[in-house]
Parts: sequence; C-alpha cells; structure tokens
Amino acid sequence: MRALRFFSVSRVPLRLNEMELLVRPARPGDGAAMAEIFVEAARTAWAHFLPPTRLALLRSPAERWERGGTDEVTLVAEQAGQVVAFAVVRRSDDADADPLRTGELDTFYALPSRWGCGVGQVLLGAALEALRAGGYREATLWTAEQNERPRRIYEAAGWELDGAQRLKTFLGVEFTELRYRIAL
Ligand SMILES: CC(C)(COP(=O)(O)OP(=O)(O)OC[C@H]1O[C@@H](n2cnc3c(N)ncnc32)[C@H](O)[C@@H]1OP(=O)(O)O)[C@@H](O)C(=O)NCCC(=O)NCCS
Repeated sequence: MRALRFFSVSRVPLRLNEMELLVRPARPGDGAAMAEIFVEAARTAWAHFLPPTRLALLRSPAERWERGGTDEVTLVAEQAGQVVAFAVVRRSDDADADPLRTGELDTFYALPSRWGCGVGQVLLGAALEALRAGGYREATLWTAEQNERPRRIYEAAGWELDGAQRLKTFLGVEFTELRYRIAL
C-alpha cells in the first residue's frame, strides 16, 4: 500500500462571494462538520431517487469522519473558518484496478448552501492534486446514475465514463452506479 503524502494548504479567491476558500487536510475535530455536510448534501441531492422518508432518517456519526485510514487523505474546504466541503481520496480497491496506478475519489460533499459557487470545482482539483502527489497516474470515482449535478461537474472537469457499472444498495434502495475515470 502506498501512503498518500500530506496535502499542503492552498488559498483560492472565489469571485462569487469574495470569501477566500482554504483547502487543507482534515484535522481532529472536523468530523462533526463533515457529518453535517454529508447528511445535508445527501438529503438535498438524492431526494429525486431515494425516498425522502428514508433520507430523513439518515444519520452520520462524527466519529465516522474522524477516523481517516492510513492510506487515504481527507481534504476540507473552509470559508471564513467554517468547513463547507470535504473530499476523501485513496487507492482504488476495484478488482480491475492496479492499486499502484489508480487512485479513487471516494467521497465528495459540499454544503448545499454553497453549491454553485465553485467550491466543488476547487476541491475536486485539490483532490486530484493530492492523488497526483501520491504518485497515482489516473483516478476513478463511482456515482449514482441519477446523480446529475456531480456528474455535470465531473464531466466539465474532464472525467469520462469508462463503461463500468455496479448495483449499490443504500437506505434499502438499489440503484446503478457508474464509474468515471480521468488521467492525472
Ligand atoms: C458534488 C458537490 C460536492 C459539488 O459541489 P458544488 O458546490 O455543487 O460545485 P461547484 O460550486 O463547483 O459547482 C459548479 C457550478 O458552479 C459554477 N462555478 C464554478 N466556479 C464558479 C465561480 N468561481 N463562481 C461562480 N460560479 C462558479 C459552475 O459553472 C457550475 O455551474 P453549474 O451548476 O451550472 O454546472 C455538491 O454538488 C454535492 O455535495 N452534491 C451532493 C453529494 C454528492 O452526490 N456527491 C458526489 C458523490 S459521487
């Protein structure tokens, strides 16, 4: 297994609200903010293909996000001291992947109130930079077929479907996930 190197902090001025965006590695104590972002983003983004009644029951303990694996990097995007988005990158565990060559964008969520400001775009770039710094040559990600907004963002950033599909069950609902790929 390859250890992903620590990702350095970057500051990117965003034009929409003139608030600076800071991307940094997650640190102890960020778990509660990440849990809140996960739940709010999931409820807002997936209501058209997952029953809102089940999404309403969605819970995410902060500890889940505090436990970073040794072979993954969690990046958070912060505006005015508030964590507004986060991403996790790691090696790919797909059966057809070369774990030394292929990294994965495993997790990618932003607070719905910040969608459309470019936060996702900047964090996505930082996530790929972290994988590149870890020596990976390409990256993949899985997303639900009906997850239109992220799919649009991935495609605008140059990710392409590679033809792989799988069935996923989440909150008791089965749906198709598609795999995207990009060269690093
Ligand atoms: C995926 C996700 C993190 C992306 O974050 P986001 O905030 O929506 O991403 P961005 O702000 O970069 O959105 C891009 C949009 O902002 C616009 N934008 C980008 N940079 C901008 C800037 N500097 N100023 C103004 N607008 C900008 C883009 O043109 C794009 O517009 P569009 O919505 O018309 O395509 C977010 O949508 C999310 O949390 N989704 C739910 C969870 C999920 O499904 N995650 C993916 C799992 S695979």
